[in-house]
Amino acid sequence: MTQKSSNTVWHHATVEREHREKLHHHKSVVLWFTGLSGSGKSTLAHAVEDRLHKMSVSTFVLDGDNVRHGLCGDLGFNDKDRVENIRRIGEVAKLFTESGIITLTAFISPFRTDRNSARKLMPHGDFLEIYCECPLDICENRDVKGLYKKARSGEIPFFTGIDSPYEAPDRAELTVQTGTKPLEECVDSVIELLVGRGIIPSK
Ligand code: ADX
Repeated sequence: MTQKSSNTVWHHATVEREHREKLHHHKSVVLWFTGLSGSGKSTLAHAVEDRLHKMSVSTFVLDGDNVRHGLCGDLGFNDKDRVENIRRIGEVAKLFTESGIITLTAFISPFRTDRNSARKLMPHGDFLEIYCECPLDICENRDVKGLYKKARSGEIPFFTGIDSPYEAPDRAELTVQTGTKPLEECVDSVIELLVGRGIIPSK
């Protein structure tokens, strides 16, 4: 759904993205972490944010569980609601990118077409998809929130990886083995991606 309210006219800002980026001494971008529940998306996104913050980079993490306490609190986990969830996050991430910061999103975002729609909202190169690759059995053994157990017993329907699909990316800018690699190594890979693309200065 890409539509606009009727009788609205876009107001052009005087302070533009480039000005904000200059102020921040780095470029803005969206780091879109995707993967199964328990694959380590949020952990990695927050660890990357921590590292960037120490490098004086302006950041913000949009986290699936947190956003579902507010902005997307009206949405459930059927396919239609997940599509809407990711549509909203894509739009929010686009706005945050205009603000000149690095936005890190940590959502399962299980459907390829939805991730690609979010990608298409932004200029080329502004959306970096990071696949947190972690086998289902590892996620299920971790079961940090006890949700897989509930999903297996039928208490939670449409659980991703159990009775709802997860479509792995086919064009991710980066794949990190969050099931087997140490966290700091995964953080290093993301930082290298940002430096390599000239988004943040190398220090
Ligand atoms: S998404 O599919 O719409 O991208 P999102 O990342 O916002 O999902 O939320 C996923 C989190 O919601 C999971 O980490 C888990 O804690 C919780 N959750 C609750 N029910 C489900 C479900 N049916 N499938 C997956 N995650 C669920």
